[in-house]
Amino acid sequence: MTPNPKSDNIITETLKKNILVSAPMAGVSTPAFRLAVRDYFDGLLFTEMVSVEGLIRSGRKTMQYLEITDKDTPVALQVFGSKPESIHDAIKVCDEESNADIYDINMGCPVKKVLKSGSGAALLKDSDKIRDIIRAARKATSKPLTVKIRLGWDRESINYPEVIKIVAAEGADAISVHGRTKTEMFSGDVDYAMIADAVRLSPIPVIGNGNVVDIETFTKMKETGVAGIMIGRGMMKAPWIFKALSEGKDPDGYLTPVEIHKLIYKLMTYETMFREEKFCIDSVKKYAVWFTKGLSESTAFRTEIYTVKSMDDTKEVIDRYFEKITAI
Ligand SMILES: Cc1cc2nc3c(=O)[nH]c(=O)nc-3n(C[C@H](O)[C@H](O)[C@H](O)COP(=O)(O)O)c2cc1C
Repeated sequence: MTPNPKSDNIITETLKKNILVSAPMAGVSTPAFRLAVRDYFDGLLFTEMVSVEGLIRSGRKTMQYLEITDKDTPVALQVFGSKPESIHDAIKVCDEESNADIYDINMGCPVKKVLKSGSGAALLKDSDKIRDIIRAARKATSKPLTVKIRLGWDRESINYPEVIKIVAAEGADAISVHGRTKTEMFSGDVDYAMIADAVRLSPIPVIGNGNVVDIETFTKMKETGVAGIMIGRGMMKAPWIFKALSEGKDPDGYLTPVEIHKLIYKLMTYETMFREEKFCIDSVKKYAVWFTKGLSESTAFRTEIYTVKSMDDTKEVIDRYFEKITAI
């Protein structure tokens, strides 16, 4: 398969418009949350990871991950798995059942359950498997294909140059590089020098990822020369981060408490579009906790919100909290 690094596709077109990218995050990048992010962002969003084995079995729960509304574009649907034939068949299912614009293969997840099945970052240990997986994925679809990796398994086995070479040769259109190894998990410094090196050697666009949370870290990542800058945890706490950074501002303090209150209500509406009430209540509590971190008296609020059970009580606790802090 011939790679097409220079040709324009939806990825390069979108990154030219907006360099920021919303990361795939299990339990975060849901259809409802993506809609909320879209209210602040016209760029590229990734879905949370979906199991290829689940997709092949077409279990009801797995198929929910394929919900992509017309407003939710451009979107890259991320899959994880370890068998090339399963990746191939699952992407075929996605081509039939979803509106995804792009497919992304997870080769960076360090979570035990994923590693145990030989998926995620475990693939970084097996170059032949990487090649076979991308080849199988490429065969399954004509849509753009991306891969998300880490620098390597650990500092002793850094292999991003080799992985980039393989996936580009097999026809991947872009690669996201989290500037840490699997062993480093989610903490410690991001290796900007290695991300810059990846940019230099990669024949396909590189999306840099890791710890971009404000203007300072955004600028550091941008200086590596990446084509895209992917934000994960920063968006979880502040889905408005994309708008703030594009205006040259830090996300902290960008929205007023009144605006955050409204956003939680908007997310309530989005959640009810996709899920039953029990799930929505849990999600709304989760958002309220994330978005109020750092606001005054939020510790007591966080404790209280987890004691309530119904949606009405959840709303009441949220309303009371925001009324109180806006009156201060
Ligand atoms: C709660 C959570 C869920 C995540 N889920 C995924 C996932 O589904 N797929 C993936 O490739 N990475 C996943 N990641 C990793 C992020 O996409 C990202 O690479 C990582 O958090 C580093 O970026 P950040 O510092 O901006 O958060 C997840 C991370 C977190 C914290």
